[in-house]
Amino acid sequence: MSAPKKLYIKTYGCQMNVYDSERMAETLGGQGYVETKTPDDADMILLNTCHIREKAAEKVYSELGRFKGLKAEKPDLKIGVAGCVAQAEGEEIMRRQPLVDLVVGPQSYHRLPEMEAKAGAGEKVLDTDFPEEDKFEKLKRRPKAKRGPTAFLTVQEGCDKFCAFCVVPYTRGAEVSRPADRILREAEDLVERGVREITLLGQNVNAYHGAGPNGDMTLAQLIWELDKVDGLERIRFTTSHPNDMMDDLIEAHGTCAKLMPYLHLPVQAGSDKILKRMNRSHTAESYIRLIERIRAARPDILISGDFIVGFPEETEEDFQATLDLVEEVKYGTAYSFKYSTRPGTPAAERAQVDPKEADDRLQRLQALLTRQQREVQDSMVGRELGVLFEKKGRFPGQMVGKSDYLHAVHVADCDAEIGDLRRVRIVSSGANSLAGELIA
Ligand code: SAH
Ligand code: SF4
Ligand code: F3S
Repeated sequence: MSAPKKLYIKTYGCQMNVYDSERMAETLGGQGYVETKTPDDADMILLNTCHIREKAAEKVYSELGRFKGLKAEKPDLKIGVAGCVAQAEGEEIMRRQPLVDLVVGPQSYHRLPEMEAKAGAGEKVLDTDFPEEDKFEKLKRRPKAKRGPTAFLTVQEGCDKFCAFCVVPYTRGAEVSRPADRILREAEDLVERGVREITLLGQNVNAYHGAGPNGDMTLAQLIWELDKVDGLERIRFTTSHPNDMMDDLIEAHGTCAKLMPYLHLPVQAGSDKILKRMNRSHTAESYIRLIERIRAARPDILISGDFIVGFPEETEEDFQATLDLVEEVKYGTAYSFKYSTRPGTPAAERAQVDPKEADDRLQRLQALLTRQQREVQDSMVGRELGVLFEKKGRFPGQMVGKSDYLHAVHVADCDAEIGDLRRVRIVSSGANSLAGELIA
């Protein structure tokens, strides 16, 4: 038998890309590829890309440029671009960077084996269709390969919300939910491989409405089905839209023990004028009321958010409204970005905010969010929390895991194994993590 071919995948962007990369690697495993951690000895390089902000997209071209030398040394090396830049700029990539052999959009990954064969025969291949079939069903799984304790599982893809700044509806297409039975089978398979915590993924995960045995199911109903899977200890989901936060999902946060007390609920801005221009179809007030209802169901829930500053026509007063909203909600963690113009989106045509002003606002917002994040993390000291251990620490005997609230927790002299879920008393809070000790 010939030596296996080597595949190097580099992943940018969101968790969905992380999941897709795993699935692509497994699928190409069927073509005789094993993964390698460096491009230097690869027979195929795949960049799984992100188009969400300009910087993310530009990285791809500079990264591709770096492979010139490798390709010159090894003419059989195949270079592919997958993900959202592939979808948005497929033909331009081929034009701008002749060393690319293969371009594949997120909805066509199940066609990779054929594409790889064609590329192997010297053809240039591009597939950015939105085919009807369920790609996940067709993507191969490597039988019974052992896994770490946490995994992502995509349950919903695409978005119909068309926020005025965002490329996702164009790169990932219309909102589609996977049927519940396939998700459950995949979850059971993951648990058999050692997974203890599953994060359900979707660009609009709480809009999930996949087919179930008695009609469409909500995300909460799907979570309750997963709750029955023996050996699965924790369930998370991301990312949610405030408008799809259904009553049964809020309730599940109070009643489903496996559902972790953590919710990523992006708001983007605190000014109703800006929210309207973003096409978010919620107000600052309706968002705050929603958070109150969620906290009534699960008082200790950690709220996480996304923010954009410097959206076209944002004034200082609008920005102040964002700061006010943040003060009111109190975030446990948050991601904040300076608005980035995306070609083809409605906001790209509008009057842009002075970039210096936007930088200044971003700094002020981040200072506030960092302070809140720190306060919430520090408030864990003295509490007893569940920690799922994921890896060994830097020091002998030390183990590192994640708390229910997703904080990293270090435990010294720890007899827990990777994959164990144990009770831990938090004793101190550091720069980016907590320290604790095992209880019994
Ligand atoms: N589906 C998710 C996440 C989409 S992308 C949601 O609806 O929340 C992740 C985050 O990137 C967004 O929440 C937003 O804060 C940010 N983002 C999206 N487009 C952007 C742009 N053009 N400029 C800056 N940030 C952007
Ligand atoms: Fe983008 Fe808005 Fe859809 Fe989120 S809800 S993916 S921000 S269009
Ligand atoms: Fe980026 Fe596409 Fe995800 S644009 S954030 S990789 S959906």
